[in-house]
Amino acid sequence: MSVASCDEKGVGGNGRDYTGDATPRHALRPAAADLHWRAMNVLLIGNGGREHALAWKLADSSRVKRLFVAPGNAGTATLADNVQLDPSNFAEVEKFIARNAVDYVVIGPEEPLAAGLADAVAAMGRGVFGCSREAARLEADKWFAKELMRQQAIPTAEARSFTDPHTAAEYVRQHAGPLVVKAAGLAKGKGVRVCAGVEDALDAVEQAMRRRAFGEAGARVVIEEKLSGPECSILAFVDRSSLYIMESCQDHKPVGDGDSGPMTGGMGAYSPTPVMSEAILEQVERQILIPAIDGLKREGIDYRGVLYAGLMLTHAGPKVLEFNCRFGDPETQPLMMRMRSDLLEVMLAVTHDRLDRVTLKWDPRPAVCVVLASGGYPGDYEKGLPIEGIAEAEGMADVKVFHAGTRLSGGTPVTDGGRVLGVTALGQNFAEAQRRAYLAASKIRFKDMHYRRDIAHQAMK
Ligand code: AMP
Ligand code: GLY
Repeated sequence: MSVASCDEKGVGGNGRDYTGDATPRHALRPAAADLHWRAMNVLLIGNGGREHALAWKLADSSRVKRLFVAPGNAGTATLADNVQLDPSNFAEVEKFIARNAVDYVVIGPEEPLAAGLADAVAAMGRGVFGCSREAARLEADKWFAKELMRQQAIPTAEARSFTDPHTAAEYVRQHAGPLVVKAAGLAKGKGVRVCAGVEDALDAVEQAMRRRAFGEAGARVVIEEKLSGPECSILAFVDRSSLYIMESCQDHKPVGDGDSGPMTGGMGAYSPTPVMSEAILEQVERQILIPAIDGLKREGIDYRGVLYAGLMLTHAGPKVLEFNCRFGDPETQPLMMRMRSDLLEVMLAVTHDRLDRVTLKWDPRPAVCVVLASGGYPGDYEKGLPIEGIAEAEGMADVKVFHAGTRLSGGTPVTDGGRVLGVTALGQNFAEAQRRAYLAASKIRFKDMHYRRDIAHQAMK
């Protein structure tokens, strides 16, 4: 039976214990905050579609007294107080937390995690959902992740790392098989090129290393063998002694239909993924997730938060394409659409190492999310364009339009980023979820809007 069809997973079936044998040095200590029931002021950091989806679920929690989103978008403004904070300015964030009696902080994006915001919040004695700076290296430094995978014998593509563009180019010229060139640092999902041939790979090296198309993220590149097979993302809640694997999902990273064109942050997603069987999921848990968490523990790093494994299901079994240290965007949109449990309760269980006592409920129906993007994205695009039709789209039952790059201008939403909206629909089956997501998307208009027409096509095969 595919995990996808499970309606409920309990401790026995999922929140399994794993054992690590080292003493962590970089543990984020659970906050002193009491473990008993009480309503909380919550601050969510971020402004993407992921954050609107998380805010939507958090706003539904009986434990949330007040919800702030920093900086948020036009969507989060409808269910929380948006606050103009710069998440990279820790002093500013800490002042806001103290002044507004914030009990708990949820960190959405990778940049503040990699910069150590979770550590700073924990040091204030407040609860935090998000991994430590050291743990975030699993995403923020692709070479660190590769070395950890090598040490732990986690299946992944063979890879080399380069800091000198000349040596990287030499390697590309001498290598026979197809290659993937990756900026080693954080590049908003755009730093990967699956190369069509030697010239393309040389250009990818040139763009990343010499022209710094992704800034300092391209100071080091990781060049790896190209794998093939269906893709799938597995996200797990992780505390110090157990992990809980969420429903499977899949992103669509390239901008064009049929996975053509440059990489984006993600043009759509669906959940569950029919290719993910119970047997493969067990392999992922045993050969990938647990060894990764144990590997970090051996380095003295304690993982708490969401661990995301981007996978390719190859003939030789599942292999890791990347690890992320947070919820995916747009994967979170279909996942939150399907999650029936109180998200804050689960997050608090992670913070306080009580994940083994949590049971999550999921809507068995599939969900499909179609991202509506600005003309030109993932390259340059115009901002400030009026958006129409959101209310009409949301008038459909079981449809939610999650905002990403939007802001309010004179009370109406306008575009403010590359990925603008994530139109998400549930259906009795994939065909219906897909049809309804596209019907809802067709009601929305802004100048030069574009979107992929084939989101979730793999699920229909
Ligand atoms: P990443 O950000 O590392 O997950 O890469 C983005 C996308 O590039 C993935 O979703 C895959 O479609 C593709 N990709 C990354 N690494 C490889 C690889 N080694 N072989 C084939 N495709 C890859
Ligand atoms: N959608 C891919 C990611 O969040 O990294």
